[in-house]
Amino acid sequence: LENGLALTPQMGFNDWNAYGCAVSESLIKSTALAMHDNGMQAAGYAYVNIDDCWMTSARDSAGRLVPDPAKFPDGISGTAAYVHSLGLKLGIYEDGGTATCAGYPGSLGHETTDANTFAAWGVDYLKYDNCNNQGVSARTRYTAMRDALAATGRPILFSLCNWGEESVWTWGAPVGNSWRTTGDISASFASMVSTFHGNAGLAPYAGPGHWNDPDMLEIGNNGMSPTENRSEFSLWAEMAAPLLAGTDIAGASAETLNVLTNRNVIAVDQDSLGRQGTLVSSVNGLDVLAKPLANGDVSVVLFNETGSAATISTTAAAIGKTGASAYTLTDLWSGGTSSTTGDISASVEAHGVVMYRVSGGATGAAPSGGVHALGAGSC
Ligand code: DGJ
Repeated sequence: LENGLALTPQMGFNDWNAYGCAVSESLIKSTALAMHDNGMQAAGYAYVNIDDCWMTSARDSAGRLVPDPAKFPDGISGTAAYVHSLGLKLGIYEDGGTATCAGYPGSLGHETTDANTFAAWGVDYLKYDNCNNQGVSARTRYTAMRDALAATGRPILFSLCNWGEESVWTWGAPVGNSWRTTGDISASFASMVSTFHGNAGLAPYAGPGHWNDPDMLEIGNNGMSPTENRSEFSLWAEMAAPLLAGTDIAGASAETLNVLTNRNVIAVDQDSLGRQGTLVSSVNGLDVLAKPLANGDVSVVLFNETGSAATISTTAAAIGKTGASAYTLTDLWSGGTSSTTGDISASVEAHGVVMYRVSGGATGAAPSGGVHALGAGSC
C-alpha cells in the first residue's frame, strides 16, 4: 500500500502469542517501557500492538467502539499517549467481519466510524482480522477499510490478517502494507517450519510497502529451544517478514533479547532493496535461502530442519554471486568472517541455521552497470 509506511518490514510487539485475550493497558505500557529500556526500540522495534479482546461487547450510542474500562482505564487514547511519549507507536486490532474472532464487535459496515475512532485515538497501526466475515469477499472488505483509513488523513499502517485466503498476495499490494500468508503460528518448531514453507514461495509478491507476513514471532515462548529461536529469527529476516515479537518482553531472558536484537540479522530484514529471500534449494529437510541486499551483498541462510547435524552446501554462483576470485562470508550469529573461492558450506546443528552475509564480486540482482557489477578489487 502506497501510504508511505512499511518501506521496510514493520517491527514491533503484539500481545496475542503470549497473552491471548489477557491484554490490558498495564501490559501494553509495561511492554513499551521495557522495549524502550532493553535495546529493542534502539534496534528498530517501533510498534506496540494490541490484539483481540481490548473492547466491550457493545458499541456506544453513537455507534463507536468502546475500550473495556477495566482493561484500559485510560482508554486507547491514554495508552497511545504514553506509548508515544516513549517515541514508540501504538497498534490496534479489529476484524473485517461482524465480530472479532473472540466475539467483540467487528467493523463490517462500520469502517468509516471505526477508522475515524482509531485516528482520533492516535492509533498508528491496524491489524485487520477475518472472522465472521459473512462470506463477503476479503478483497471488498479490506479495500473498504483501506479507503476509510486513508480518508482519516492519519498515517496508519494497514496489516491484513486473512490467513492467505483468496490468494491475498495476488491483490494485497495496493490494499495493505502486509498480509498474513498462513494460518496461526504456535510455539513449536513444527509450526514454525510449516509456516516458513507456506510463506517461502511467495517472494515475488513482496516489496517496499507490501510484505508477506508469516505471522508473529514465537521466540521466547518456551515452545522452541534457543537454536530454534535463532532459526525463526533468521528465516523471518531472510523472508523480509514483519518482525513482531510475541513474548513477555518485560520478563524476557537475555537469550531471547539477544536473538530479537541481533543487528546483523535485523539489517537483512530491513535492507532497503526490499527483496524477500528465495529458496535456492530444499532437499530432505536441508534448505538454502538467498536474499540480495542493497549494497550488492547476498544474505544466505543454511537451515537444517532435521533432527541431526548435517552439512549444508551451496555456491556463490547458486546464490547469484559471480566474478570474484574470493568472497567474504560474515557469520551473522557468531560475527566471524571467512573467505571462500566459491563453495559455501557449513555443518549446521539439528533445527539450526548458519546465516552468512556474502560479499565480493558481482551480484546478479544488482542493477547492471552499477558499482556492484564491478569485480572484486575494482573500487
Ligand atoms: C486470528 C489471528 O490470526 C490471530 O493472529 C489473532 O489476531 C486472533 N485471531 C485473535 O482472535
